[in-house]
Amino acid sequence: MSDVDDIVTSAVEAFGRIADPDELERVKAQFLGKAGSLTAMLKSLGKLAPEERREAGGRINAAKDRIEAALLQRREVLAGAALDARLAEEALDVTLPGRGQGLGGIHPVVRTWQRIESIFGSIGFDIADGPEIETDWYNFTALNNPENHPARSMQDTFYVEGADTAGLPLLLRTHTSPMQVRYACNHRPPIKVIAPGRTYRVDSDATHSPMFHQVEGLWIDENVSFADLKGVYTDFLRRFFETDELQVRFRPSYFPFTEPSAEIDMMFASGPQKGRWLEISGAGQVHPTVVRNFGLDPERYIGFAFGSGLERLSMLRYGIDDLRLFFDGDLSFLKQFR
Ligand code: PHE
Repeated sequence: MSDVDDIVTSAVEAFGRIADPDELERVKAQFLGKAGSLTAMLKSLGKLAPEERREAGGRINAAKDRIEAALLQRREVLAGAALDARLAEEALDVTLPGRGQGLGGIHPVVRTWQRIESIFGSIGFDIADGPEIETDWYNFTALNNPENHPARSMQDTFYVEGADTAGLPLLLRTHTSPMQVRYACNHRPPIKVIAPGRTYRVDSDATHSPMFHQVEGLWIDENVSFADLKGVYTDFLRRFFETDELQVRFRPSYFPFTEPSAEIDMMFASGPQKGRWLEISGAGQVHPTVVRNFGLDPERYIGFAFGSGLERLSMLRYGIDDLRLFFDGDLSFLKQFR
């Protein structure tokens, strides 16, 4: 039965020529598979005489073992070669120079945010935070907005799916004022807080963005007057813009949540904006109904609130004329603030 040895020899040779693991498995079938040459020989054993059969069977099985051993060995060689190739390909050259560290910078609006926190922090104001998805009650009703106030319309306010526990609509807060309500409902007077954050309105042009930032200020105690508002806000502006020359005026206005209400204007004494009144903030004495919604007695507690735009403050401080620059992510603009 020298053809058994021939089969072993040709299997070992064939395996040795193969470099691809998948092909190795295909070629294996030619020898050991159901239609393979050794299997065919095993099937022909039945035709032999019994003692010949035992001897031939032993030889065929030994041949099978040798082919399997050769296969195993070749598999290991190929796997080793594949690993070597992968290691070579994924090699890391630790001697290459580094890529350099891209130093980020603080966004100009966030710089303004931080400045405001430090100025108001230095005169004893706490800093509050609140949700950007608000309920109708905190954003409008608690702030004395009438049921049919136009600010509640879909043209001005982004509504989101879902409702609060009272079944009232949820919305993206249109101002930071709901945070004064949340804070005042959880603290006892004196209440002295600022609440900076993102706000949203259906509005988009060179001076309006659908997402923008405001800072809310609130000071409630037994005797906080409009004069305190004037003092605190004027002092804030002079420190924010780093000039005592700055002029400030309070112009009568209307907000449902303050009475009296004012628009605050400021004027630089020098620089490119010099001599022009610039609108900077809404403000006023908190309306008695709102104080009552804080859970406080408006006969006893009184104070002021203001709400200012952080983009507006940033634009005036840095001389920027298009609000969209803040949100374009243009590095040549942003790098100037590093
Ligand atoms: N919430 C007002 C606005 O967004 C600003 C404001 C706040 C006015 C507090 C008065 C008092 O326009």
